[in-house]
Amino acid sequence: MRVAMIGTGYVGLVSGACFADFGHVVCCVDKDPSKIDRLNQGQIPIFEPGLDALVASNVRDGRLSFVLDGAEAIRTADAVFIAVGTPSRRGDGHADLSYVYAAAEEIAGLIDGFTVVVTKSTVPVGTGDEIERIIRARRPDAEFAVVSNPEFLREGAAIEDFKRPDRVVVGTEDDRARVVMAEIYRPLSLNETPILFTARRTSELIKYAANAFLALKITFINEMADLCEAVGADVQQVARGIGLDKRIGSKFLNAGPGYGGSCFPKDTLALVRTATDAGSPVRLVETTVQVNDARKKAMAGRIAGALGGELKGRTVAMLGLTFKPNTDDMRDSPALDVIPALIARGATVQAFDPEGMEEAARLLDDVQFKDGPYEAVAGADVVVILTEWNQFRALDLDRVKLLMRQPVMVDLRNVYRPEDMRARGFAYTSVGRT
Ligand code: UDX
Repeated sequence: MRVAMIGTGYVGLVSGACFADFGHVVCCVDKDPSKIDRLNQGQIPIFEPGLDALVASNVRDGRLSFVLDGAEAIRTADAVFIAVGTPSRRGDGHADLSYVYAAAEEIAGLIDGFTVVVTKSTVPVGTGDEIERIIRARRPDAEFAVVSNPEFLREGAAIEDFKRPDRVVVGTEDDRARVVMAEIYRPLSLNETPILFTARRTSELIKYAANAFLALKITFINEMADLCEAVGADVQQVARGIGLDKRIGSKFLNAGPGYGGSCFPKDTLALVRTATDAGSPVRLVETTVQVNDARKKAMAGRIAGALGGELKGRTVAMLGLTFKPNTDDMRDSPALDVIPALIARGATVQAFDPEGMEEAARLLDDVQFKDGPYEAVAGADVVVILTEWNQFRALDLDRVKLLMRQPVMVDLRNVYRPEDMRARGFAYTSVGRT
């Protein structure tokens, strides 16, 4: 199959590279000349384990290319994927669809022969209808079908998630489009991945419902963690105790500082707006958004609490800045709430993150960025683990203790065990464990 991929962000680049690896001929299109230049030189604009090698091998084999002008690729494509950004619209939280509609306009002018137009971007229910209307208005003669095919990959595990997904969802009522989509995903159906064909609007909603449910699950365990602290229980054992029930499932029950990232915060908000507009409010999701926002803000108070409530003149070592490990993505990271609050209360912040510091430096003022975890903890009054990078799981704790002004740790990801840390002489607090 010939595939054109519009947008080389996270989803576009990973999907494009993986489709090429499935054996399809993929051309990725982006309006940003410097991005295309860099991709053509083999430089990957995001940090995603394994992506550089996957891109390199498929470019070498002639199945993957990057271009600024997508005209030829779109004209010859069996399927054109729209994988452009849908950021939160400033002010109202609705998804901003201007990039999606601009892509639809561009595609409309170029369709040649039956073409499947696929939205991979996360788009609100009804967007497929609008894309269809845009293309039809401009090209009443064109033969095409608009399909919804949401992407569920996680940053940091994107290739694995794409190649071994729990399911693929395809929303279309068009038989010819079904055949094309089944062919594109054939390597996965050979692996027995369920391919769920639904109506287009249903597919669009599945993506939002999945993200909202996961955000809700995390928020639930975060509230249980607070309750555990109040009543003297252990949230990790609660998570295991409930997660072994197959109806609940054990994943996404790690308590922490609140969810962040490029999807959950934006998509929960967009779902709330869609539901309100449709006259069918989703109160659980509304509450999830509020509870999570409040939680991220409350984390500075926890850190202050570990220092007797006073942050003025204290030095905080922050290990981890990205919203989760194995990414350089800072979008909606708890760090963006916690660090300014610490600084506003008079603390000095020394931070280290293996991949996120360049981006963090653009978003955070007055932070002293350090070259490694031990440099960050030197002279600190408290060390905070904010992101569970592997290298923070096996710190030389005796060295940490010697370097710090006093051995105090706030472990917001429950990386260490309270009894071990106390035995080593740390004043240690974590989440949902006493
Ligand atoms: C998410 C969805 O998982 C993915 O299916 C969708 O396509 C995009 O959004 P991503 O944002 O990459 O993926 O990361 P994810 O691993 O889901 O984590 C999101 C946030 O939740 C992170 O801040 C993470 O730290 C937090 N989280 C996750 C928890 O606090 N506890 C958990 O148990 C799991």
